[in-house]
Amino acid sequence: MALPTRVRIVDVGPRDGLQNEKQMIAADVKVELVDRLTDAGFGAIEVTSFVSPKWVPQMADGADVMARIRRQPGVVYSVLVPNMKGFDSALPTRPDEIVVFGAASEAFSQKNINCSIAESIERFRPVCDAARAANIRIRGAISCALGCPYQGEVTPAAVGYVARLMKEIGVQHVGVADTIGTGTPRAAQAAIEAALAHYPLDEVSGHFHDTYGQATANVYACLELGVSTFDTSIAGLGGCPYAKGATGNVATEDVLYLLRGLGIDTGIDLDKTVAIGQWISGVLERKAFARAGNAMAAKRAA
Ligand code: HMG
Ligand code: MG
Repeated sequence: MALPTRVRIVDVGPRDGLQNEKQMIAADVKVELVDRLTDAGFGAIEVTSFVSPKWVPQMADGADVMARIRRQPGVVYSVLVPNMKGFDSALPTRPDEIVVFGAASEAFSQKNINCSIAESIERFRPVCDAARAANIRIRGAISCALGCPYQGEVTPAAVGYVARLMKEIGVQHVGVADTIGTGTPRAAQAAIEAALAHYPLDEVSGHFHDTYGQATANVYACLELGVSTFDTSIAGLGGCPYAKGATGNVATEDVLYLLRGLGIDTGIDLDKTVAIGQWISGVLERKAFARAGNAMAAKRAA
């Protein structure tokens, strides 16, 4: 199959990236990050999550951040919602999209959201009904689609099972997530194909953490299947608090560089994105985890 000519990037850095930071980050910084991403042309940004502040303290200011971001019409600002309590808190902040997050691994489901896969679907069902009634788009994340930190191997059939359950409760789009970044290209394709048994091509995305350095290869493998939506994280920020040792999502800068080289349009300004990655890494007092981003920044500085 020919590669897609246009790709949609969802920058999940403000949520998936910052949720993992130990030191509390000021809401001002989070708002500035989202606003800068908007200015760089991102069409979709995952802003925050409405989860228990005891579980993920860093995201406790989600409502404040949502209230203060400068919204560009047409840009999808999404938030994670694990249950009705989260939905009720998210609703007044007018998210364009909510994300329910389940797992293809029972063990991870218990560690991350404290319930079984089947129970998680029953928690998501009223959330999906309420989102539909409020005209809010619903995305689903399938964690541990390529491996689990607690149970090890995860089969494509397990991914297909969760995708089917999500479809049944009205989830409109599913993201196949390699939470711990152990997956390799053929495995990524198999997991995506399992989701494609239940969803059309433009409603399946890839979400690859880069722990083992395989994420851009996995993105390319998914492009070969015609997948045209990917979650990426500015400066490669992040990880999941319940997947110890896992690094952030594939860096946005690296994926944009790959796509530019392939002649695939994203509508995003790569130079501005590189600058954002360098800025946020400076705020966090570390070097960006973005190979192409750092190389481009070094070249510009020289
Ligand atoms: P629980 O303890 O089973 O829930 O947690 P509960 O209903 O028994 O409630 C316990 C307490 O939490 C109560 O407070 C509730 O009010 C409160 P208390 O009475 O003890 O004071 N509570 C909430 N507070 C605020 N917002 C809420 C909420 N719900 C309950 N929505 C729960 C279940 C899901 C809430 C909990 O396990 C949780 O918050 N987990 C956090 C999970 C998380 O955020 N993980 C990281 C994001 S997922 C991710 O990174 C993966 C992804 O990137 C894809 C990938 O890479 O794999 C998406
Ligand atoms: Mg993630």
